[in-house]
Amino acid sequence: MKRMAVVLAAGQGKRMKSKLYKVLHPVCGKPMVGHVLDTVKATGSQRTVVIVGYGAEQVKAHIGQDAEYVLQETQLGTGHAVKQAKDLIGSEEGTTIVICGDTPLVMAETLEGLMTLHEGQHAAATVLTAVMDQPAGYGRVIRGEDGGVLKIVEQKDCTAEEAAVGEINTGTYCFDNAKLFAALEKVTNSNNQQEYYLTDVIGILRAQGDIVLGYQAHDAAESIGVNDRLALSEAEGYMRQRINRQHMLNGVTIIDPASTYIGADVIIGSDTVLYPGTQLKGKTVIGEDCVIGPFSEIEDCVIMDGAEVKHSVLNQAQVGARTTVGPFAYLRPGTVLGEEVKIGDFVEIKNAVIGDGSKVSHLSYVGDAAVGKNVNVGCGAITANYDGFNKSKTTIEDNAFIGSNVNLIAPVTVGKGAFVVAGSTITRSVSENDLAIARVRQENKPGYAEKIRSRAKAKKDQSSQS
Ligand code: UD1
Ligand code: CA
Repeated sequence: MKRMAVVLAAGQGKRMKSKLYKVLHPVCGKPMVGHVLDTVKATGSQRTVVIVGYGAEQVKAHIGQDAEYVLQETQLGTGHAVKQAKDLIGSEEGTTIVICGDTPLVMAETLEGLMTLHEGQHAAATVLTAVMDQPAGYGRVIRGEDGGVLKIVEQKDCTAEEAAVGEINTGTYCFDNAKLFAALEKVTNSNNQQEYYLTDVIGILRAQGDIVLGYQAHDAAESIGVNDRLALSEAEGYMRQRINRQHMLNGVTIIDPASTYIGADVIIGSDTVLYPGTQLKGKTVIGEDCVIGPFSEIEDCVIMDGAEVKHSVLNQAQVGARTTVGPFAYLRPGTVLGEEVKIGDFVEIKNAVIGDGSKVSHLSYVGDAAVGKNVNVGCGAITANYDGFNKSKTTIEDNAFIGSNVNLIAPVTVGKGAFVVAGSTITRSVSENDLAIARVRQENKPGYAEKIRSRAKAKKDQSSQS
């Protein structure tokens, strides 16, 4: 049977009190609607229609070509929203999942269970329900004596008796596509919110004698609908646990899951250890046998097998196998470190390639540079890459030695095996195997220290007398 999906994402989300449209609020680094789309895709939906309205352009830009879109110009309710998909899929035969863009925790396995029940029983509609201790805010699922669903009543339209029901509508449903669009024609807005409720379709189908079922989610947490920031943080917490758990099952050691934050799209190899305070974001990929943290923030990076990163911040950087970074290093976009490189404390690297076996161990800035293999950059040495207008490049070839506190004024090249003496300010390129020294020759003045002290003391004594 053909499988389709309609994702509701047109609402503004007033209760979020935000400039950002609701479904674009991230949960574990990924917009809620992105989570929903991933889940829907995993069920093998052949046509996915996203209903957009508020923030339509941003929502489309986020989801891209993976879906078809319909604009709901005014937000007259969830029923009105689904009806907008009629021109696209109204004449299709098959099963259609309808899901809200603000329920990021619903899992693909749950949708699979929902569809299996629905299709197996030839139902017209099957509602994904959950039992909640505090059902306030959700539509209540009213069951008939046969166990089927009679109707869904919104919180604002509930009688006291209905409000006491703990089984709620998660906002996810399976429909016989033709019956869904036929029933939507009959939905009115005569309710407390004067909206066209999708939930009324359930009562309409049941009243006309169709089979309407409820499929209860195993874990109520899955069905959190994020309407405000409280629910957002709750969803974040559940998603974080779910992500951490999956990595642990895949062979990653997480010393303290409560203080470890891993984005939804991060990939981590087995036998890698994550120490407390680690944040892995964006499209970060980490290999096997790595040691990450404590207290490191890594975004959109690729870290190869056996690397170590401690107390450091990395953004759009590549770290080669068995390379060590930190403590207290800052790797900025365009950093590419080879294998067995050492980047030590208080070192900043930007837009620079550093070859295998090279060391930048302490207090350095290396920007806009190409550094070869087995280079040693001494303590406090820096590249001066910016003249206030232009960025210039520094090249340091294989086996060169850059002494402590050297300033390399770019553009400049230090050739293979060359030696730059500590404290030098280098403005001209140094050829292969040459030694460069660029500092004032030292002069020692015997006994002069005592002379300076007595002169200074005399000056002080004179000023305290006057
Ligand atoms: C809805 C359900 C409620 C259920 C809850 C689960 C209805 C009438 N109520 O209530 O039974 O318990 O979800 O979370 O369906 N949207 C549009 N266009 C509109 C209105 C809404 O696209 O005109 C979208 C919103 O962007 C949102 C989703 O539909 O993603 C749900 O809308 P929302 O206003 O959050 O519905 P709830 O009040 O939570
Ligand atoms: Ca909602």
